[in-house]
Amino acid sequence: MKIFKSKKTFHDYIERQREMGKKIGFAPTMGALHQGHISLYEAASKENDLVFSSIFVNPTQFNNAADLEKYPRNIENDLKILENSDYVDAVYIPEVSDLYPDGLKSKSYDFDGLENEMEGKFRPGHFDGVGTVVEELLLQVQPDNAYFGEKDFQQLVIIEKLVEKLKLPVKIHGVAIYREKNGLAMSSRNERLSAEQREASKIIYETLLKVNDWFRIITVPEINQRVKDIFEDQRGMVLEYFEISDEQTLKETDFFYKGHNYRAFIVVFVNEVRLIDNMHLE
Ligand code: PAF
Repeated sequence: MKIFKSKKTFHDYIERQREMGKKIGFAPTMGALHQGHISLYEAASKENDLVFSSIFVNPTQFNNAADLEKYPRNIENDLKILENSDYVDAVYIPEVSDLYPDGLKSKSYDFDGLENEMEGKFRPGHFDGVGTVVEELLLQVQPDNAYFGEKDFQQLVIIEKLVEKLKLPVKIHGVAIYREKNGLAMSSRNERLSAEQREASKIIYETLLKVNDWFRIITVPEINQRVKDIFEDQRGMVLEYFEISDEQTLKETDFFYKGHNYRAFIVVFVNEVRLIDNMHLE
């Protein structure tokens, strides 16, 4: 596996691969790699000649300085995981100045209102930060295909919108959520949970399964109330939000309309660790 720390050498390498007509799949990450990331690489390896990844903890998408500071970082371990997985041909580990030549600030995007729903309400500026770094990475890497996890479903929909609006020649692929054995969605943030907290957090997935059972059987306000009740009884957990939203517009619904696809979204704090999950309802 090739490791690039400089934009220039990475670009030269990409150019050579392009000249040879290689199809490139790309999965950007913020490191602290886990099985969920491997599933992105696996999907990419099935549809491309070469798989590239990047590791960059993007400061502009953190609206909370403590969250940025505590975000797990372990490059050596990440590189071992990448080598062992055998899916990734090259990894880009850029400097801040490679991605932000004019200083650490976000562009301002209009994602047709998608950015104002859910995470947008609780993490102001988050999607401007994500848009800025993803746009820059896609311009630099120029992949044919790019892969993002469905755990951050709103991010996935917003990146599809970014690519559509900027007319970038890349196909965006969503990859299903990879779960731990107990159902907890894999996340770099899980590293910050104790063994007991990790086990207790399976309630998030179990709740989503219940919501799926209740879907179209009881009303949306009844489901919302039941979810609130579940988390009121959980010690050390605080439900930040739960909502059922239209998968296309991401707008919260109060009624299940025919012909629409719905997804349940949930964010729970387990002590100070913020866990996010979602499930398509059927
Ligand atoms: O999902 C992530 O890991 C990040 O938001 C991304 C897409 C790599 C941008 O920093």
